[in-house]
Amino acid sequence: MRPLLNLRNKLTAAYHHRPIVGNTTVAPAALVHQVTWRSEDDTAAFARQLAAQPLLANAFITLHGDLGAGKTTLVRHLLRALGVDGRIKSPTYAVVEPHEAPGLAIWHFDFYRFSDPREWEDAGFRDIFASPGLKLAEWPQKAAALIPAADIAIDIEVFDDTERRVTLQAHTARGHTLLQGMSA
Ligand SMILES: Nc1ncnc2c1ncn2[C@@H]1O[C@H](COP(=O)(O)OP(=O)(O)OP(=O)(O)O)[C@@H](O)[C@H]1O
Ligand SMILES: [Mg+2]
Repeated sequence: MRPLLNLRNKLTAAYHHRPIVGNTTVAPAALVHQVTWRSEDDTAAFARQLAAQPLLANAFITLHGDLGAGKTTLVRHLLRALGVDGRIKSPTYAVVEPHEAPGLAIWHFDFYRFSDPREWEDAGFRDIFASPGLKLAEWPQKAAALIPAADIAIDIEVFDDTERRVTLQAHTARGHTLLQGMSA
């Protein structure tokens, strides 16, 4: 085999066999982090841990999972942990709800009913994603062509009434650092 091709095959193999958690010369540590929530208290504790990560301030986090998986519930616990007071409305009809925590702007998107790409410009979503602050998005796949890459994607799977299996995946350098903080 030609040396260059050999090297490329080796790199490809390494890429496909990246460890879920680990440290090799090829892959940065902790690309994926998995947790189980056995109650909403676990969701709240997870939210507090995430809220304590310094890099969260300018992060973009997508939330995946079926209807009723617990995406909004996690966002509510996260906003509370960050110091947001008062009623926390779900953005389902407005697509985005802005929030203010001490020293931090937060935008909570729910793209479930997003269908018109013109809204991306007209409603100022492009500007929001270009400005500092924390952005959280439910149903990002409904705006897949427009939305930037998430720092972290959080996927919530319901196993029964109380148990949720949660997978966090980092897609950027910021996301990697955040995940390392979560799994430490
Ligand atoms: N960890 C948990 N354990 C038990 N119940 C939970 C947990 N997290 C959320 N729930 C419950 O499950 C429901 C989740 O609803 P939620 O609105 O958060 O889902 P969602 O993923 O945002 O759905 P949608 O796709 O419709 O926006 C709520 O009734 C909540 O009380
Ligand atoms: Mg929701």
